[in-house]
Amino acid sequence: MHTMFRRGTLAVLPLAFLLSAPGATRHPRPVIHPYLVSRTSYLENGLARTPPMGWNSWNNFGCAVNEATVRDAAEAMVKSGLKDAGYTYVNIDDCWQVARAADGTIVVDSTRFPHGIKPLADYVHSLGLKLGIYSDAGVKTCQGRPGGYGHEMQDARTYAAWGVDYLKYDWCYVEGKDKEGHPWVSDPRPEVLYGRMRDALAASGRPIVFSLCNWGHFEPWLWGPAIGNLWRTTDDIQDTWKSLLNIADSNNLHAAAAGPGHWNDPDMLTIGLRGKGQIGSGDMTDDAYRAEFSLWSLMAAPLIIGADVHAMDSVTSSILLNKEVIAVDQDPRGVQGRKVRSDAGLEVWSKPLAKPGQRAVVLFNRTASPAKITFTWAEVGLGQGKATVRDLWAHTDRGTAVDGWSAEVPSHGVVMVQVAGAER
Ligand code: GLA
Repeated sequence: MHTMFRRGTLAVLPLAFLLSAPGATRHPRPVIHPYLVSRTSYLENGLARTPPMGWNSWNNFGCAVNEATVRDAAEAMVKSGLKDAGYTYVNIDDCWQVARAADGTIVVDSTRFPHGIKPLADYVHSLGLKLGIYSDAGVKTCQGRPGGYGHEMQDARTYAAWGVDYLKYDWCYVEGKDKEGHPWVSDPRPEVLYGRMRDALAASGRPIVFSLCNWGHFEPWLWGPAIGNLWRTTDDIQDTWKSLLNIADSNNLHAAAAGPGHWNDPDMLTIGLRGKGQIGSGDMTDDAYRAEFSLWSLMAAPLIIGADVHAMDSVTSSILLNKEVIAVDQDPRGVQGRKVRSDAGLEVWSKPLAKPGQRAVVLFNRTASPAKITFTWAEVGLGQGKATVRDLWAHTDRGTAVDGWSAEVPSHGVVMVQVAGAER
């Protein structure tokens, strides 16, 4: 499927340099040295130009997902304002499928989804939202339902016929062997298995966001951009402070791989779960949830809500609906921000935004006590002098500052600001 690729662009070089190659005097011809050509190619399906936003059933409902939970979630996304804030995808995770028919067609679990997926997709579309679904590159999904291996073309055609807009593709029953000692799949290289589904989705003719979920195995930040719109960088998130720290730090390492159409995925948001649902104990405070939303947005992460949006408390909805923070995530320049300083648990993270001279900055306090954190314009790549500072959680202008700024940051929390100054 070569049409799906665009080779990376040639680095811009002074013409004189290109023409200085031997033999270039009479009939000048640019000589392209292999090192001057970017080796990266990208999936070009035109989707996810900014990080995808939506909801997914797994974190809260696990295998208990059904037609009603998905309809409720879609309706709640409209009523609560989440849809207007940009959350678009309503994603069914594992357990919607139950078997394969004699001709190999995937069979929907009719107890959970009595009307099938197509009418549900139609309903979700009628609300102005999009529908996502889940499968697996191996022979079974992580919950033991039929996987996509060997059925890629058939499944992609089925999804397209149902009106599916997003596919999360997992990695269970790929690596390893069955009870008889036979490998689950004959060639378990992720580029091969995920590549097959990428090609099948392209052949289906329907634009479908492709979300790779192999938990950061085999360095997906290297091959993922050519295959998917997003790829998980880590194991499953838990609703805990420790998990938040581990995942933020791991995802931060791969910032260079992200850009419009191809994103690192540090996993779904735990905000609002408060220990309920599938994934862990719940020691997250409101401040910690605000930290999560700030860091995910600064890192241009997909914002896929895991909580039950039908029953959000007011703090949860105020976090998920913070349009100023969402705008940082969705900034059209599509740069993944990074940690720029770490000093005994007090950190500065920064993301360049589309408007010249603008940075989103997260002051992150990992320690057990409130602390003052200072940052300078220089360390976020801005020139010296005056700049204005806007607090994205207090929704307040903090006035003009010179060369740097400081704030008192709560324990296990953040202050997030947008700085408008001059490029260095
Ligand atoms: C894996 C994925 C999760 C979820 C479950 C479903 O663990 O990483 O995000 O999809 O499978 O079984």
